[in-house]
Amino acid sequence: MSELKPSSPIGVFDSGMGGLTVLSELVSALPGEDFVYLGDTARVPYGSRSPGTILRYSREVSEYLLRFDIKLLVIACNTVSAHAESILREELPCPVIGVIHPGARAVVAQSRTGRVGVIGTRSTIKSGAYEREIRRLNSDLSIFSKACPLLVPVIEEGWMDKKVTGQILQEYLSEMVREDVDSLVLGCTHYPLLKKAIKDQYPELKLIDSSVETARAVKQQLEERELLREASESGPTSGLKTDNGNRGSVRILLTDITDHIESLERLFFRHPFQSLEEIQIDDMTR
Ligand code: DGL
Repeated sequence: MSELKPSSPIGVFDSGMGGLTVLSELVSALPGEDFVYLGDTARVPYGSRSPGTILRYSREVSEYLLRFDIKLLVIACNTVSAHAESILREELPCPVIGVIHPGARAVVAQSRTGRVGVIGTRSTIKSGAYEREIRRLNSDLSIFSKACPLLVPVIEEGWMDKKVTGQILQEYLSEMVREDVDSLVLGCTHYPLLKKAIKDQYPELKLIDSSVETARAVKQQLEERELLREASESGPTSGLKTDNGNRGSVRILLTDITDHIESLERLFFRHPFQSLEEIQIDDMTR
């Protein structure tokens, strides 16, 4: 870890395009940084796969990102964070930050009733990773978890305002709302797009957006390690013009690109559109 340099990029990894919600927050919070995002769109979704497969894919993607001499790896995927974060942290030569600890810390800080909810993919919920992390921080909380596998396709379809989406949300959330949870962790990269739909039905519920919390944690970690690159020092490298004075660059690498994928970038990435670069899985694993 001794060779980590402030001028190096930050690697960001997700199973697909949903991690762009995390990248959006990172770009806003860290306007001077260069980012290399890798979405494994050829093998998405990870959320319905076995722990062994998720770990294997995660190792391959992280190894590939190391080729960019990254100074820090952000696991912008709840499913990967749940299954591979601690292993990658041991194996990789750079700091690794996942989305689960920041989300868990925020819900522990924000809940007033001590009754909290977590939603995510089947694989994230089955892993129990959020529950373990929340209990580690405060063993007195009551935690209600629910796998919501229909939400990712609904969001990718752009159905945030549809009646059917409200019905699906009700089906998934009504039980925990009856249990009086006051705070809900959105434990999947896609779910921040449903904030309004959830708020419309359950206005009292506090929503914890792991992507916002993760960006905060990354900034703190870079500051502590003296690896932060301020916007004023970086120079206009990329042409990524955002309204927060961003001067860093963003590269978005994907293992498969289709027309639909481009529309997903527009859905999930809040900053100006970046062109997509395709890489081959064979090259990644070579
Ligand atoms: N990015 C994944 C997550 O946050 C959702 C998509 C998938 O299942 O791969 O869990």
